[in-house]
Amino acid sequence: MYFQDQVVWITGASSGIGEGLAYTLAQQNAKLILSARRVEELERVKKNCAGDSAQANVAANVPYILPLDVADLESLPQKANAAREIFGRIDILVNNAGVGSRGYVVDMEIAVQQRVMQVNYFGPIALTKAVLPYMMEQKSGHVVVIGSLTGKLPVPGRSAYCASKHALHGFFDALRGEVHPYGIQVTIVCPGFVQTHISENSLLADGTTRGPKTHKEHRRSMTIDESAKHILYAIRTGKEEYDYGGIEKWVVPIRKFFPWLYSRAIRRLRLPAS
Ligand SMILES: NC(=O)c1ccc[n+]([C@@H]2O[C@H](COP(=O)([O-])OP(=O)(O)OC[C@H]3O[C@@H](n4cnc5c(N)ncnc54)[C@H](OP(=O)(O)O)[C@@H]3O)[C@@H](O)[C@H]2O)c1
Repeated sequence: MYFQDQVVWITGASSGIGEGLAYTLAQQNAKLILSARRVEELERVKKNCAGDSAQANVAANVPYILPLDVADLESLPQKANAAREIFGRIDILVNNAGVGSRGYVVDMEIAVQQRVMQVNYFGPIALTKAVLPYMMEQKSGHVVVIGSLTGKLPVPGRSAYCASKHALHGFFDALRGEVHPYGIQVTIVCPGFVQTHISENSLLADGTTRGPKTHKEHRRSMTIDESAKHILYAIRTGKEEYDYGGIEKWVVPIRKFFPWLYSRAIRRLRLPAS
């Protein structure tokens, strides 16, 4: 029971990967702080964590809800302070909130590129920066960021999203060296396809949200429960970086050892822009 009574703050806990993490951590009696923008969805997750659904056993610790918008960078120091006040410490911060993007560079408004960076990159770095003083004072802590395999495997039609996830590696790899003397760990988790709402919540080239569509793209992807097990394994074992997914995971070593092959293959790839 590694996570028993550990204070874990999850952003993007109202849906998908963050929701799955909340359920698995609740089963392990972690002390949870759940954040996202939609309070009613956070309430639903909180209720399920407490055992009101088949998805979770009865949890001893009641999760707290702390609504936030990671794109509102100026609000984050105050949110971090509020999070610390809840249990008196923050052991693990999971920077999971994120947004997808779809569209070709030539069509995509620069404001959309900026918005994706704001949510997926500047949000996590501002929140981490706000939490670090508390972890440094504790002389312990674990900063986790949910990247993506597309943070290692750029694909046409997903430039904004790929760029935001690539950028996380530069920042968090550098941070790891800075905070090591304070006993703080940094883990970057890179999922492949997981069954969530990411596609329908993705921003299109004109800045509109894609919305629900019937699609087959995530048909063979993993569930949020399976995903949560991978993420918690990476945290528990103190991985610096951890990739998981289906067959797509094996493209990472292919690109590493045969970059020319990868480069040629993606020339043929035409992912839908909507
Ligand atoms: N699903 C996949 O295949 C996959 C693969 C690799 C990586 N990921 C990453 O996993 C993370 C979670 O995505 P998901 O797949 O679970 O998608 P999702 O179902 O769309 O969930 C996204 C979560 O992020 C929150 N969020 C979005 N913008 C936010 C903002 N400005 N401030 C605060 N919270 C915000 C959403 O909550 P509100 O709307 O309530 O704010 C929601 O809880 C993302 O970082 C994503 O890039 C996903």
